[in-house]
Amino acid sequence: MEPHVLPVLELIAVPMSIVETVRESYARCRQNPDFFDAFYDHFARKSSEIGPLFSQTDMQKQNALLSEAIDSLISFATGDPDARQHVEEIGLSHSRDQLNIKPEWYPLWMEALHDTIHESDPKCTPQLLQDWETVIQPGIDHILELH
Ligand code: HEM
Repeated sequence: MEPHVLPVLELIAVPMSIVETVRESYARCRQNPDFFDAFYDHFARKSSEIGPLFSQTDMQKQNALLSEAIDSLISFATGDPDARQHVEEIGLSHSRDQLNIKPEWYPLWMEALHDTIHESDPKCTPQLLQDWETVIQPGIDHILELH
């Protein structure tokens, strides 16, 4: 058995019905062509330290990368090995040796995502935002473990 198999199995704790609910919400969110721009606007407003980190960033590219990264955070919860690898690459790029993204910024990232889903998904409810957190927090925790 490959060494990564056991930890992956441990993660299959998020019910598939919740993962599907979140995937459907994400599909509705992506109908909003401004979803990712709106996300980064919300995120930058969470702390004066955040905007300057993206001052040199090509936001067109960044939006596309974030779009795929959120897909991987969702699929991470199902134990998908490709998603796990993608999440680990993000964990390494954000770790203290590379971008050195502070752990306390991740709750702000999640808040900004909630704000943006709330605006973009016409079916948004408090329960749906809770489901989003249930599904993607394991991937975020894994990124934080790699800090
Ligand atoms: C789970 C949450 C997050 C996800 C999924 C995510 C995703 C990504 C992805 C896919 C990239 C581009 C590829 C890479 O460098 O790995 C990136 C770059 C970056 N992220 Fe994140 N990120 C997250 C959290 C954060 C947080 C909390 C910050 C804090 C400000 C941050 C700041 C940055 C910066 C500064 C870059 C580089 C932008 C550039 O190339 O100019 N990220 N992120």
